[in-house]
Amino acid sequence: MTPYQLGPLLYEGKAKRIFQTDQPDLVAVEFKDDATAFNALKKAELKGKGILNCSISALLFEHLQRAGVPTHYLGVQGHHWMLVRPVRVIPIEVVIRNVAAGSLCKQMPIAAGTPLDPPLLDLYYKDDAYGDPLLSEARLERLSLVNGEQRRELEALARRVNAVLLDLFSGLGLQLVDFKLELGFTADGALVVADEISPDTCRLWDLDVVDAQERILDKDRFRQDLGGVIEAYGEVLKRVQGVIHGPSLYG
Ligand code: TMP
Repeated sequence: MTPYQLGPLLYEGKAKRIFQTDQPDLVAVEFKDDATAFNALKKAELKGKGILNCSISALLFEHLQRAGVPTHYLGVQGHHWMLVRPVRVIPIEVVIRNVAAGSLCKQMPIAAGTPLDPPLLDLYYKDDAYGDPLLSEARLERLSLVNGEQRRELEALARRVNAVLLDLFSGLGLQLVDFKLELGFTADGALVVADEISPDTCRLWDLDVVDAQERILDKDRFRQDLGGVIEAYGEVLKRVQGVIHGPSLYG
């Protein structure tokens, strides 16, 4: 692959910076050490988080691509840079829940840990100014972010990702409780998985640990002030590296 030059900053999010490059088909993503929760009301710098999330995300994207799931991922460079295809991200956060946890248990009478079969799929409007609200059918239609066919494609892709990741993580002694995906369209109109897939965007519980707090290996450790965030993310990376080799270096 051709070497590239970093171009201007296109977008800075809470955990990543996205840069244009001198190649039209290549965008560079820098994973930061910043952690936020509750729409950035809670903030911290967690040294090493960027590298961990970049590596975990890269390995998961490689695994998904091998399983036939299209993603924006092209490779990594150094420890906290990911190269991706430019994608027009749909401002919808697709959340799949296999087990009840988090906001679901605050908004409905359902006990944390209750299995959800079939998995629950929730769509949220991605806009910090509005606090990423849960979308109703009517509001989704009103926003016209996707047409009916795109919406069916988006949900089917998210459920495929869930099936592949459930299988992967269960083999690693991890329960994939829930996760958030962002999807988008490439220049040729293909729908692909974008953003990241990491302990920032997934809930992962250690299947060998019974204690409801000790088993948490994801960002809930930060949200709930449990400590050991970096150690937990490191444990996830170690297990994922045990079965997926790489990540592939770009270039
Ligand atoms: P929730 O239970 O808070 O709705 O979160 C569901 C899943 O989505 C959980 O795995 C964490 C992830 N998530 C994000 O990636 N970004 C967010 O801004 C929020 C609120 C949740």
